Amino acid sequence: MYTEEMLESIKKVEAAREANAALEPRRMTAQEKDDLLKTYHPDYRDDQFGTITVGPNKGEKAPLELIELLEGKSRLLENRPDLSCPDYETDVLIIGGGGAGASAAIEADNAGAKVMIVTKLRIGDANTMMAEGGIQAADKPNDSPAQHFLDAFGGGHFAAKKDLVYKLVTDAPYCIKWLNEMGVEFDKDAEGNMVTTHGGGTSRKRMHAAKDYSGAEIMRTLRDEVLNREIPVIDFTTAIELIMDDKGQCAGAVLMNMETKEILVAKAKVVILATGGAGRMHYQGFPTSNHYGATADGLVLAYRVGAKLLYQDTLQYHPTGAAFPEQIFGALVTEKVRSLGAKLVNVNGEVFMHPLETRDVAAASIIRECKRGNQVSTPEGQGVWLDTPMIELKNGEGTIEKRIPAMLRMFGKYGIDIRKQPIIVYPTLHYQNGGVDVDATSETNVPNLFVAGEAAGGVHGRNRLMGNSLLDVIVFGRNAGIYAAKKAKDVTVGNLTLDHIDAFQKELNEAGINPTKLSPQILPEYARKVNK
Ligand code: FUM
Repeated sequence: MYTEEMLESIKKVEAAREANAALEPRRMTAQEKDDLLKTYHPDYRDDQFGTITVGPNKGEKAPLELIELLEGKSRLLENRPDLSCPDYETDVLIIGGGGAGASAAIEADNAGAKVMIVTKLRIGDANTMMAEGGIQAADKPNDSPAQHFLDAFGGGHFAAKKDLVYKLVTDAPYCIKWLNEMGVEFDKDAEGNMVTTHGGGTSRKRMHAAKDYSGAEIMRTLRDEVLNREIPVIDFTTAIELIMDDKGQCAGAVLMNMETKEILVAKAKVVILATGGAGRMHYQGFPTSNHYGATADGLVLAYRVGAKLLYQDTLQYHPTGAAFPEQIFGALVTEKVRSLGAKLVNVNGEVFMHPLETRDVAAASIIRECKRGNQVSTPEGQGVWLDTPMIELKNGEGTIEKRIPAMLRMFGKYGIDIRKQPIIVYPTLHYQNGGVDVDATSETNVPNLFVAGEAAGGVHGRNRLMGNSLLDVIVFGRNAGIYAAKKAKDVTVGNLTLDHIDAFQKELNEAGINPTKLSPQILPEYARKVNK
């Protein structure tokens, strides 16, 4: 599978393997990290960002592709549905069928609320399902939520909202128990103790996993729970606008059937947006590890009704996306590969960084190594080696099959045996660090609009650690479900309105913007039939 040139480089990787495996590369100093990020991290490429012209974040920085969506054209600008006879009426409307949406639905159902999920694809078609390496929780005797807090807060450059990080880390041990009791098959030793590993930037081994398909296992369990409870799930149906009432409260959503394009109205006492991330926007032309529907819809829907965004200018590029072969270009190579002992080495077989620096630092370091001319060239561009055979050198034969079987299979399909040969990796667009600004109850500044999971901002500051995203969707999905159900008990919905669409369009007109691009985008640009 590898080219002659790659095979020549592999010889150098092999020759240096034993020495490299024994190496303890030093960690960068804070100053070195700052300098590295400013020069090489994509978040610092000024030409790829612009200034938002209208709405609550007017004057702030955002990726150019996101600005185009935030300042895009509503699908309902010309034709409005009749809001007087809704197709659906519920207490809690959840938009999004991933981990956060499902967790919210379960807790809102527990609280006795009438709940409904709408999702543009199927329940479980979400970044949760794609997550591999694990979920963090400080539940071992040598660890504590306080240590988890320090890791997460520091890893996010001290920018996260402290009350949200506090919630994340203190709820974590219970959430593992909650998932375990619901049926998630976590990795356990012979005595039944959870097996945990390090992730980038963790001071303790607190990554709980189900091999390297942790997200799929968690999502499978949540999905079954939602379906067993007979919570209604309206699939292949996307939200194209939120609905407000004449008291200024969020009160539902206008939906569109993805196949028939039929427009439907859902009236609700409260709405939870759990629409996930934005990888399929391919910011700066990066490939992505994200699922097909990750197009920032929640940010657009919330923004148009006046919800504030937070840290919309910071994205996570996972350091190790597959860079070869082209069939899996951009697919996630879990950080667990490095936590099990594989190191990153350049074309000459040299280790150039500590393998478990935080993600932004690791991604920037790989980009720098390539810019220094030490890259492995590929048909799609470039990358560096991730020396996977080191794992079995360190942990013994059989480790790869046992701990990261999905990786073995993903590369094995293309004739690459990761037990014997290294793989080529390069950063891939993985996560939206920011999102809609929420308080500790997961509510936004728009009354009765809650946001949970990747669509919410503030939990991770300006950089997220591995395993804190699966944790985020569980902690804050549950949180949103609990508080939304509680709030719904006291809500009286007024007259439904879509006047905010006109108000937003007026702002656009006054700013001299005449959008033609429809938003939310719903599916990637390359999807067939999208936006027709
Ligand atoms: O590398 C990974 O397995 C990804 C995990 C995460 O984004 O939390």
